[in-house]
Amino acid sequence: MIKDWLQESNYTVIFTGAGMSTESGLPDFRSANKGLWKQHDPSKIASIDALNNNVDTFIDFYRERVLKVKEYGPHQGHYILAEWEQQGLVHSIITQNVDGFHQESGSKIVHELHGTLQKLHCQSCGKEYSSGEYVDNEYHCDCGGVLRPSIILFGEMLPQEAFQTAFQDAEKADLFIVLGSSLTVSPANQIPLIAKESGARLIIVNQEPTPYDQYADMTIHDQKIGVFLQAVANEGKG
Ligand code: APR
Repeated sequence: MIKDWLQESNYTVIFTGAGMSTESGLPDFRSANKGLWKQHDPSKIASIDALNNNVDTFIDFYRERVLKVKEYGPHQGHYILAEWEQQGLVHSIITQNVDGFHQESGSKIVHELHGTLQKLHCQSCGKEYSSGEYVDNEYHCDCGGVLRPSIILFGEMLPQEAFQTAFQDAEKADLFIVLGSSLTVSPANQIPLIAKESGARLIIVNQEPTPYDQYADMTIHDQKIGVFLQAVANEGKG
């Protein structure tokens, strides 16, 4: 049935959170056992304050995340989404994730709401570097400034361009599918609501309930994302 919805829809948007990448091997943030924010206080490690006043701990934490993103990669679910874009079934992906796995698996239209771990930039002069610098234990710019990942830290301005485009996509969507987000961080969590209010069918695939399940046309809590995407891809195949 969901494959029918995909085929009927003129504009399908996929919205992903950290739950999209746990099957690649990366931890999410709020899952009971392994969530990153169950082990670290984000305000002390993922904030502009941490960068300014706790830079060694900050760099240790993000070097670890950069190494993991380089060690792991997209899983089958990412490749299915990229294939659906090729087939004209998916028009864009809005992601809160910073691992770059959607682009790595071939998706072309990806709006990164919270930036990316694939790049670093100098906190003083803004010069961009590859995150490979962290792998090589390089933490300073030619100008002497500190290199930090090009993600949005708590307390920093959000990328207006990415959010504007994401809001526009949500308004255009006939079908809007959330994959692996607790929908607890604003303003990203408003985007599925905008889609619903603009007339989209809303599907939420998440292992735990979310605050927006009540607005969804369909919620799937008992299937992992990888299994769900594979099942939809196989619908209608003999
Ligand atoms: N299949 C389905 N759901 C899953 C899977 C899976 N394989 N793995 C995890 N989940 C679900 C978890 O149950 C959880 O509810 O994905 C959700 C991930 O939620 P969070 O860990 O809160 O991640 P996310 O919603 O992306 O967080 C939003 O918070 O800290 C900030 O910037 C960070 O982008 C992040 C934002």
